[in-house]
Amino acid sequence: MSGTNFPCGSFSSPNGIPTTKVTMPALIEMKRQGKLISSLTAYDYATARLVDEAGIDMILVGDSLAMVVLGQENTLAVTMDEMLHHTRAVRCAVHRALVVADMPFGSYHGTVAEGVANAIRFVKESGAEAVKIEGPRVELTRALVEAEIPVVSHLGLTPQSVHRMGGFRVQGRSMDAALQLKAAAHALAEAGAGAVVLEGVPRETAAAITAELPIPTIGIGAGPDCDGQILVLHDLVGLSFTPPAKFVRRYADAGALIRSAVEHYREDVEHRAFPADEESYHLPEAALKALEAQEHAATLRKA
Ligand code: KIV
Repeated sequence: MSGTNFPCGSFSSPNGIPTTKVTMPALIEMKRQGKLISSLTAYDYATARLVDEAGIDMILVGDSLAMVVLGQENTLAVTMDEMLHHTRAVRCAVHRALVVADMPFGSYHGTVAEGVANAIRFVKESGAEAVKIEGPRVELTRALVEAEIPVVSHLGLTPQSVHRMGGFRVQGRSMDAALQLKAAAHALAEAGAGAVVLEGVPRETAAAITAELPIPTIGIGAGPDCDGQILVLHDLVGLSFTPPAKFVRRYADAGALIRSAVEHYREDVEHRAFPADEESYHLPEAALKALEAQEHAATLRKA
């Protein structure tokens, strides 16, 4: 596929939200200026557009799509092609936020060269402006930055390590584990990562890393002291079907809203209350008269 042409839709900026494009250097500058970074996941055109127009700084096409969109048990089975497909749709919707594609399990676990080749696919084929990588993959991070691809690292509870961790468990709870996380975050920053997602780590560990790191930390289940926060959109709006984790705050119940709208529609169809005459197309007067005359003539002929 040749060079991309993103975004694809029209742009409006309701609510007076600034339209200046968010870039990776801009996120680092936000940290320097003490401005907090808002981030959410999105997986399709409609939701990405709403998230962007609401002024969110960074949109992650997370591999959590495996669970919240594709209904799978964990994130492991989602493929490069599925991630590319969704990232392309998100990129078409987004004008301001930084669009980050999550590299799926298996796409960077072989050689560094394979990881770089797959990351290049995200940039070329889907318009991603950065990739996210789970774990302390320092050599790969350096190679991606060499290849001009901004990197968001992801430490702590890394869902692609679910089998090694023995479940989704808070990480970095002992002093040793906290020091290890800190060392990994420093190594990734030195290798050129632009930001680090800290997931499922104690508030104190995240705060210590945030205070020392020159690049922003984006927390999820990591307390309020990070440089920014990220949540899965479906958790935020009540569209996930599992009990929310402790760190999730539900801001809306879109599930109830959609269910009620759909039930209302079904009832209207069953009672011929939808569509109404105003929701129907009509024959022009002359065509209607001609049709009636023809039907009348046919009835007379039969009689
Ligand atoms: O896949 C995802 O949604 C994520 C975020 C939770 C950070 O990795």
